[in-house]
Amino acid sequence: MFQPDLLRGQTLLITGGGTGLGRAMAERAAALGAAVGVLGRRTEPLEEAVAAIRAAGGSAAWASADVRDPAAVAGAVDQIEAALGPLTGLVNNAAGNFLAATEDLSPNAFNAVVQIVLNGTFHTTQELGRRWIERGGGGVILSIVTTYAWMGSPFVVPSACAKAGVLAMTRSLAVEWATYGIRANAIAPGPFPTEGAFSRLMPEDMAQKALEAVPLKRFGRLDELADLSVFLLSPMAAFINGECVVIDGGEWLHNGQEFGRFTDLPRDRVKAMLEALKPKR
Ligand code: COA
Repeated sequence: MFQPDLLRGQTLLITGGGTGLGRAMAERAAALGAAVGVLGRRTEPLEEAVAAIRAAGGSAAWASADVRDPAAVAGAVDQIEAALGPLTGLVNNAAGNFLAATEDLSPNAFNAVVQIVLNGTFHTTQELGRRWIERGGGGVILSIVTTYAWMGSPFVVPSACAKAGVLAMTRSLAVEWATYGIRANAIAPGPFPTEGAFSRLMPEDMAQKALEAVPLKRFGRLDELADLSVFLLSPMAAFINGECVVIDGGEWLHNGQEFGRFTDLPRDRVKAMLEALKPKR
């Protein structure tokens, strides 16, 4: 669907690019001509992602860093730029999350998630932003959030708080840094069955319920998310700035809407219920 050279000339940094959504975005971007740097804590998945991209004929490099550490982020960006040339785009995908009752969280548990998601996104964004402002060539930022960034969600309060912050950062910088030719957008994915997310957030018996909560009655496919990401990073989206695109099969609207649950029932039954409520004449 896309021109095969859609991202030619772009050099992207993708945090958490060794696994899951990050790796899918990295491979798709590389296949469309971008040079891709993947950053993460564990070297093994990063090496594998880079090897896969190179085997497919793409250009890639990796650097290991914890996004919570600004000095480590700066060092990793130096490393990637030494290997691939100046970065032109950033995908903030690295995340930390787990299900927990809020009253049971330790201060350190809250901090761990917020530091990875919010502070980590700030560190990478500021590092790249400073370089782009100095160089004068603009840049593009894409951050992975979630629909509960604005809906809120029980049992993932640190993540909800942090993702809300990332969305606020996105919309703020879309205006503040437009002056420098830097665009900032976000994607809010619904349930995509990656090992990282599902092993932490989807107990066995909840997966079916989660599926039923999606009006399209399926989970997302990695290629669908990857395609959206490359579109938003590409010149095709040059006028899209400060936007958050939801890709969830309608899940959040369904769950948020008062009578959305009716669609869980067979339609005949719903219609019979509605009929029964009609005033009798
Ligand atoms: N429930 C409650 N508290 C938890 C928890 C859970 N499931 N998992 C971790 N914690 C707490 C720890 O007990 C610790 O608090 P304490 O020091 O008061 O005991 C705190 O969180 C930090 O945990 P630790 O394992 O030391 O942190 P870490 O920096 O090594 O790991 C996490 C960060 C916890 C976010 C870890 O899950 C992680 O590394 N995730 C990365 C991948 C990821 O989550 N991806 C998300 C895909 S949706």
